Amino acid sequence: MVPDDIREQARKLREELNYHNYRYYVLDDPVIADVEYDRLFRRLLELEERYPELVTPDSPTRRVGGKPLDRFEEVRHISPMLSLDNIFDRAELKEFDEKLRRYLKSDEHPTYIAEPKMDGLAVELVYEQGVFVLGSTRGDGLIGENITPQLKTVRDIPLRLHEDGMDVPGQLVVRGEVYMDKDGFAQLNRRREAAGESLFANPRNAAAGSLRQLDPRVTAERGLRFFVYAVADIDAVPCGRQSELFPWLLKLGFAVNPHIKLCHGLVEVEQRYDHLLEIREKLSYEIDGMVVKVDDFHLQKRLGNTARAPRWAVAWKFPAVQATTRIIGVDFQVGRTGAVTPVALLEPVRVEGVVVQRATLHNRDEIERKDLRIGDTVLIQRAGDVIPEVIKPVVEQRTGKEKPIVFPKNCPVCGHPLVRPHGEAVIRCVNPHCPAQRLQSLIHFVGKSGVDIEGLGKKAVEQLMEKGLVHDIPDFFRLKKEDLALLDGWGEKSAENVIQAIAKARRMPLARFLGALGIRYVGEVTAQLLAAHFATLTDIMAAKKEDFLNVEGIGEQAAGSLEDYFSDPSTKAMIKELLAEGVTILPPSDGEKPLAGRIFLFTGTLASMGRNEAKQIVKELGGQVVSGLSNRVTDLVAGEKAGSKLKKAKERGIRILREKEFLEMLGRA
Ligand code: IVH
Repeated sequence: MVPDDIREQARKLREELNYHNYRYYVLDDPVIADVEYDRLFRRLLELEERYPELVTPDSPTRRVGGKPLDRFEEVRHISPMLSLDNIFDRAELKEFDEKLRRYLKSDEHPTYIAEPKMDGLAVELVYEQGVFVLGSTRGDGLIGENITPQLKTVRDIPLRLHEDGMDVPGQLVVRGEVYMDKDGFAQLNRRREAAGESLFANPRNAAAGSLRQLDPRVTAERGLRFFVYAVADIDAVPCGRQSELFPWLLKLGFAVNPHIKLCHGLVEVEQRYDHLLEIREKLSYEIDGMVVKVDDFHLQKRLGNTARAPRWAVAWKFPAVQATTRIIGVDFQVGRTGAVTPVALLEPVRVEGVVVQRATLHNRDEIERKDLRIGDTVLIQRAGDVIPEVIKPVVEQRTGKEKPIVFPKNCPVCGHPLVRPHGEAVIRCVNPHCPAQRLQSLIHFVGKSGVDIEGLGKKAVEQLMEKGLVHDIPDFFRLKKEDLALLDGWGEKSAENVIQAIAKARRMPLARFLGALGIRYVGEVTAQLLAAHFATLTDIMAAKKEDFLNVEGIGEQAAGSLEDYFSDPSTKAMIKELLAEGVTILPPSDGEKPLAGRIFLFTGTLASMGRNEAKQIVKELGGQVVSGLSNRVTDLVAGEKAGSKLKKAKERGIRILREKEFLEMLGRA
């Protein structure tokens, strides 16, 4: 028997925790600190562990996921879960409105409600006497799958309704969209990439994959979210219109999308569409259009449904950032660290006004998972200024003539056998003398993250290597003006400038030199830490893995990579040559932090961390962060959807760090 006071304590804790969960996830307005929440949570867990009878279906402790299922049971929906008809432009919106008025025999335009169309998965939630008892996927619209334990892990799905003083039916069935937000998606894929697992193509697939996990504990880790958008039976609720339904559902504890708006007349509907299209990128989750619904429930009922979709609602889709084209070949690119990346060669196609001819295929697992073949018609996607991606093949359009994509066994450039290190998704060329890696390393050495020799860009280094003028780093310091002046597109003046820039680079700080070498896992920050710790190149060259591990901020991977690099006889020979060419490595000044003297400005959103976190890291490393563009700014960190600041910074020649480069600088990529 559970003592009464304990039972009461548990009830109170459940109520409190559910309330705070609602404040945090639904209202985005927490009233207690996270640690306090955790304390209450642990207390409830303890009570439930001691008295398992206390566990109720609405206990917040259920959100961590129960035991795995053997299979999903079928659930018949209370009424069919319909789909929506799509429209794509203003003319079709007009047609929709006219058709609807003909049906109603009305001259008046009905009031519409415009809602963001969430790009997730439709689910149905059943509440009995205020408690969440059954949740299911849409399935074929009539029969779905029982995913109740999985749905319990979704933080903005109330496990018990806030019924106080409200008129709630004994059984309430709501419908809405489960989704994964952009941050959660980026994080998940990063974790998967690090673990060598296949990546999800988009947040929607990630949400679907996370929800259809037999083990709800896996779902719990994926941080899924939910917005409600309908009830199954409008006669069962004390509301006469959709615009009354939302505040009512919000009070009951459901998350309601804040961008829902009532529209009087088609002009307002159109304005709303333009508005959503404009804020689309800034939203923390993906939307793929706007749903337009007749607000009045009476009118909805009069209009009714076709077998497929309601007559009173329509989905106005956003223009595609996706397109279909054909894979005509695959190129295998070798990067600086030897990673071999397959790149699809495509029949040129326009997406968002840009012609796309190449798209990354990531790695071999991705090709296998998506079952891509040469000759396939494929769906591609381009979002913002990220590299275009191949989403999937259009299997229906296969002719049988498609050819498999064969991953080379040997490096396409040097012929060395490729290897796949244990636990990694990437395949690498491990030949340290591979010309492709060498080219990329040389480009890095003289580039902005390296010793920064002005005038020596990617193209120039390619030319120099092709002409046999540069094979290795020391060769840069042997270049003569006459050699350069003979290159295609070069003249006296540009040759002279580069020679001067090289002369200037002959004296370089130790940290800059270390960063320029392009050692795996050693970015600018790690390079600074090494320089500050060891002070001389000689000491670094003599150091063993344990010595590197002694440097604060240097981990296992970087330490191993450093030891490998400096124990290689060719490294030793290369450094000897450099010094013989008169290159001087300057010791660091005392106590200098890695980013001292640099002024950072952030623009756009970073996928891997919040902006505040990024600023904090920069500050801890001695950098300064400002919010406006000025001539003092040394580095602009440009995330996705970077706007005018990026353009202006480029014009002013300020160093631009894309997210990947920023992370590399921090030694995090
Ligand atoms: S209402 C009978 N509202 O779009 C009305 N659907 O293409 C059915 N969706 O299966 C849905 N956001 O998964 C509605 N605000 C919204 C929505 C929405 C996303 C999805 C839903 C549905 C699909 C239809």
